[in-house]
Amino acid sequence: MEMYQAKYHEVDIENTSFLVTGGAGFIGSHIVEYLMLNNAKKVRVLDNLMTGNYANIQKWESSPNFEYMEGDIRDTSTCMKACTDIDFVSHQVALGSVPRSIKDPVRTNAINVDGFLNMLVAAKDCKVKRFVYASSSSVYGDEPNLPKFEDRTGNPLSPYAVSKATNELYAKVFQSTYGMEIIGLRYFNIFGPRQDPNGPYAAVIPIFIDYLKRKQAVYIDGDGEQTRDFTFVENAVQANVRAMLTQEEGATGQTYNIAFGKNYSVNHLFSVIKNGMQTDQNAIHRESRQGDVRNSLADTSKAEKLLKYKPLFSFEDGMKFTLEAYLK
Ligand SMILES: NC(=O)c1ccc[n+]([C@@H]2O[C@H](COP(=O)([O-])OP(=O)(O)OC[C@H]3O[C@@H](n4cnc5c(N)ncnc54)[C@H](O)[C@@H]3O)[C@@H](O)[C@H]2O)c1
Repeated sequence: MEMYQAKYHEVDIENTSFLVTGGAGFIGSHIVEYLMLNNAKKVRVLDNLMTGNYANIQKWESSPNFEYMEGDIRDTSTCMKACTDIDFVSHQVALGSVPRSIKDPVRTNAINVDGFLNMLVAAKDCKVKRFVYASSSSVYGDEPNLPKFEDRTGNPLSPYAVSKATNELYAKVFQSTYGMEIIGLRYFNIFGPRQDPNGPYAAVIPIFIDYLKRKQAVYIDGDGEQTRDFTFVENAVQANVRAMLTQEEGATGQTYNIAFGKNYSVNHLFSVIKNGMQTDQNAIHRESRQGDVRNSLADTSKAEKLLKYKPLFSFEDGMKFTLEAYLK
């Protein structure tokens, strides 16, 4: 199947207005793409381009139903403006990366916790219908069992994980105290076209592809047998669309694992990319990273049941689209 052929909403969105925060970033720009391709009444993006890229959404700038707001969620009046006249919020802004949060916990907290709280308050005051936000599998922390079930989390292993766990606490309290409808999506290693390969905090898949392309040394942290539930970005788009629009009783006030539900080692990942790029370059192993978990695998049955989430793109399908996009 090609990307963006499937429809993940049953209700009409032609009379519905959406705000995607972080919409110029990797995952956010794909959510924007789906909403634009499906003729939403309004798609507003709020982004400060800290890690995002305007080029990810530029193609929509002349569409009358598209609105771009450059601004920072650390500013409360910006959040209020962004939420005005909006039905559904998909909140994707965060300062990502576990190592970055270990280096810069204060800024991570300011964006991921204070900024998140600003957005929740603005969504409440503007009476948006529902607030969906990006959480992370990092909230499982040191919980050793596989697969991961939503109600069995451990201790966070990094400031980034603390920030996402804090989001989930605030979300629960805002739903119970103010009667808001809120859904948290715990993404597991999302990958796909437009994921930024640049900078010291880039994710493993774009780094591997980009470095192999430029014939630079590629490093694997530790022995490479650590596993991840690598999840293609359109599966995360599906989860956001379903979470914003579901009418299922009891679906809000919850967090959900969003993954494909299969895990692969980093060594396997490297060999798939290496074969896809037809290179014989090998990777060099180095020390493991602080704050990294050894294995990760999601149980997605809760999202399947309450959100009707059914990931359509496997790891292999996703790698095909990703390699195509990066090697173009
Ligand atoms: N990519 C993954 O594998 C993954 C896994 C788990 C969770 N997540 C979460 O998913 C969300 C999206 O991640 P992504 O991979 O697309 O990252 P990204 O960095 O591409 O997107 C984040 C966007 O937020 C914007 N932004 C950052 N700080 C801002 C601020 N203060 N005000 C306004 N905009 C700001 C950035 O410019 C960027 O466009 C994040 O919340 C992240 O924590 C991602």
